[in-house]
Amino acid sequence: MLRDGREVVSSVVSSQIELHAAHGGVVPDLAARAHLEVIGPVVEESLSALPGGWDAVDGVAVTRGPGLAGCLLVGTAYAQSAAVARGVPVVGVSHMAGHIYSAWLSDVTLEPPYLALVVSGGHSDVVELRDHGDAVRLASTRDDAAGEAFDKAARLLGLGYPGGPAVERAARTGDPGRFPMPRTRLDGALSFSGLKTSLRYAIRDLGAGALTDAGSPRDPAVVADLAASFQAAVVEQLLHVLGTIADRRGAERIAVVGGVAANQALRDAVRSRFAGLPVTVPPLSLCTDNAAMIGAAGWQRLRLHGPDAPGVAVDPGLDLYS
Ligand code: KG4
Ligand code: ZN
Repeated sequence: MLRDGREVVSSVVSSQIELHAAHGGVVPDLAARAHLEVIGPVVEESLSALPGGWDAVDGVAVTRGPGLAGCLLVGTAYAQSAAVARGVPVVGVSHMAGHIYSAWLSDVTLEPPYLALVVSGGHSDVVELRDHGDAVRLASTRDDAAGEAFDKAARLLGLGYPGGPAVERAARTGDPGRFPMPRTRLDGALSFSGLKTSLRYAIRDLGAGALTDAGSPRDPAVVADLAASFQAAVVEQLLHVLGTIADRRGAERIAVVGGVAANQALRDAVRSRFAGLPVTVPPLSLCTDNAAMIGAAGWQRLRLHGPDAPGVAVDPGLDLYS
């Protein structure tokens, strides 16, 4: 729940991590059913922080893509029914615009133009928000997203789901120099598949005796060193691309957003690389998926374009930052 688009009155997140952890990743049907079960209680809990409840609501923002179709349908159907019943406008928002606006939401001094590194489970992009509602993508990944790379690395290392936090935890005690990983440096693009293959070979080269039946290293010290080496290579590549583009464009403000922005090694590296510039990295609760960022992007959209025509269409493959 936001007041005037920028003040978080309440933010309720219902995590499905436990549900999906048992399967080692997201199961679409289970995800949609879980959305259906919790959406009512989550909205009510969020509204309970607002004096007047629904009567005080003057707009509803909802994610229309990208994402799993079943989950998007649950959200948009609920939002539209609630908005129509109460006569308030509804706006469909891109999940990716939400991530860009998580920075704006967390830092009251931040206004466009700003350059954002967007690193989530499905995206790795460098995007410039030139003005409200006007975003341009300047780089993207050729294969996996950064979060996806962390999740795959965690699986190879036997660290479970979700992978990012698990790899980060293991890396804390590891030596990032022990296993050399490739330093991918493409011009204006990211790629994580080579890094993932190197990790797989490094594990294989330990020899069968050093591996569990599932094929991950037995020795926690080795897991820690591999995790640290992998994380350092990911962070270095992200910084290389962001740094090159920031220098080329003379960026004056930098933001890092998305689930992977919760990674402390990345947060530290960005702050030290751009020591002379204002850098916004949202608190962890606004990095991983949340409704507040969707509200902020929706508030701007409503201000700029007015409400959507009746019937927000979901788009699972939506590829828009504004
Ligand atoms: O933005 P997000 O919550 O959901 C998507 O829109 O995808 O990002 C989730 C991704 C997952 O791949 C997860 O492993 C990664 O963010 N992630 C992290 C960390 N926390 C979450 N990656 C690295 N370090 C972390 N601390
Ligand atoms: Zn996300």
